[in-house]
Amino acid sequence: MTTNFSRFEGTEDYIVSEDLRNSVNVAVALSKPLLLKGEPGTGKTLLAQSIAKALGLQLIIWNIKSTTKAQDGLYVYDTVQRLYDTQFGNKDVSDIKQYIKLGKLGEAFTSEQQVVLLIDEIDKADLEFPNDLLWELDVMNFHIPETSETITAKNRPIVIITSNAEKELPDPFLRRCIFHYISFPEADMMEQIIKVHYPDLENTLLNEALKAFYWIRSQHNLHKKPSTSELLDWVQALSAGGISPDHIYQELPFLGTLLKKNQDFDTILRRVHNRGTGENQQTGTRIFRNW
Ligand SMILES: Nc1ncnc2c1ncn2[C@@H]1O[C@H](COP(=O)(O)OP(=O)(O)O)[C@@H](O)[C@H]1O
Ligand SMILES: [Mg+2]
Repeated sequence: MTTNFSRFEGTEDYIVSEDLRNSVNVAVALSKPLLLKGEPGTGKTLLAQSIAKALGLQLIIWNIKSTTKAQDGLYVYDTVQRLYDTQFGNKDVSDIKQYIKLGKLGEAFTSEQQVVLLIDEIDKADLEFPNDLLWELDVMNFHIPETSETITAKNRPIVIITSNAEKELPDPFLRRCIFHYISFPEADMMEQIIKVHYPDLENTLLNEALKAFYWIRSQHNLHKKPSTSELLDWVQALSAGGISPDHIYQELPFLGTLLKKNQDFDTILRRVHNRGTGENQQTGTRIFRNW
């Protein structure tokens, strides 16, 4: 395949698997949105930043909340300001254009340069939201009836959409995206991720922390498994606290950095207590190696 687009090869501060790198490049080549799914902490948000950095493009982030509507991404007509100006200002309010504020999609479309547009955590919004965006993402334009203007993308943005898989997305939406599921990193990859953030971390400490971390994640019935962000905080706490690596797996110091639910805390402390040494210690090692 000949390529006439910039290839994403990753950045030094983002560890990317070959599969994911390929998905990014296919999405860019086909000008389709890349939909990234995966549990929190799998580097979805950071990937968009890494793509923008690697390709030297501006990143526009649209953070989706439960109340976000598709229209917010296009434009809003600030009628309240216009009414205010009508009553109290001495401005000419007949030019409606000054009250049209472009949303993130509008910003991406009107940008002089191609941008990376991150639509982050799309599953936070209601089910209509992705469907309402289909048209604009397909044809890359939208109409503003108030000013009879049509905003057309000067350069098709590279669109990255993330979902924590809280909700299933509608089929018509899925059909239009290149889909990639980022699975939770295995220990080897996690080791590289941590080293990117803390290059000077002592190896034994890192290995013991990883062993304990994957042991915790392997425990069933946790309400919230710790993710990469928590692990990054934990290794930092262990290092700053001067914890000897021998104590990490046995004692799980600063456990509050990893677990945020009381019940999980109790579960893990109980199981650590029952774990003892010898045979069970090996179980931990086995889990770590096989993960
Ligand atoms: N592949 C990776 N390379 C470097 N850091 C990563 C990677 N994946 C996750 N991280 C780190 O883990 C944390 C969570 O990543 P984030 O992109 O916010 O995850 P998500 O958006 O999937 O919830 C961030 O601190 C990020 O720096
Ligand atoms: Mg995120």
